[in-house]
Amino acid sequence: MITIKSEREIELMREAGGLVARVLDMLEKEIAPGVSTKRLDELAEQFIRDHDAVPSFLNYAPKGEPGVTPYPATLCVSIDNEVVHGVPSARRIIGEGEIVSVDCGAYKSGYHGDSARTYIVGEVDPAVRQLVEVTRECLALGIGQAVEGNRLHDISAAIEKHARAFGYSVIENMVGHGIGSELHEEPAVPNYGRPHTGVKLRSGMTLAIEPMIAIGRSRRAVSKRGAWVAVTEDGRHSAHFEHTIAIRKGAPEILTK
Ligand code: MF3
Ligand code: CO
Repeated sequence: MITIKSEREIELMREAGGLVARVLDMLEKEIAPGVSTKRLDELAEQFIRDHDAVPSFLNYAPKGEPGVTPYPATLCVSIDNEVVHGVPSARRIIGEGEIVSVDCGAYKSGYHGDSARTYIVGEVDPAVRQLVEVTRECLALGIGQAVEGNRLHDISAAIEKHARAFGYSVIENMVGHGIGSELHEEPAVPNYGRPHTGVKLRSGMTLAIEPMIAIGRSRRAVSKRGAWVAVTEDGRHSAHFEHTIAIRKGAPEILTK
């Protein structure tokens, strides 16, 4: 079931979302060569707790996958060929020339905000830099379709079209999602699809739109058994941007800004 949020609920989601945006702003200043991904995680967790919220991902256990260990951290920090769900570690030191995707969720006053950005560390190969910029544009174009009266896959199709125009591949087995009092609600929001299909978008729906786009041909992000981190099949780079948004009449509202 897709829930329609009231004005009051959207107001609370704006608070949770705003907090996530401030975490990602704060981390932008901390991400540099020599910093461990664990350090970023500690800073993010402290920041969230200092603002009367709790990390959404910490101890998260996917439903219907009993073998998977609960997620052990506040952030997902996924570098270069890692697509999503990189678990922060004291041994993983950020290096010059890497792209670092940071995904963060916060739960405050009963609602979640969820957002991700890919940061560029120092001098990055121009082809990789372009991947990051195009993935950022994919998110903006997807959000642009998130208006009342459109259909869900108008978002998906806009993302896919832009990625394909640059010869990139869309990661198909990881998708965006509804969000609210649960981190993952219906509907799934794929990053590919046919325009004018899918459910009608209605004012008060809240979605986490999150393109994961790769150089090369990988259409899936794959994990070793028991591991959280998911990487491209061919080892090429992948980028990830995400916003939590509310469908409105007219322009969508970005809740994680
Ligand atoms: N933004 C991602 C998602 O919505 C991050 C989830 S990490 C997890 O799936 F640990 F919560 F799974
Ligand atoms: Co998400």
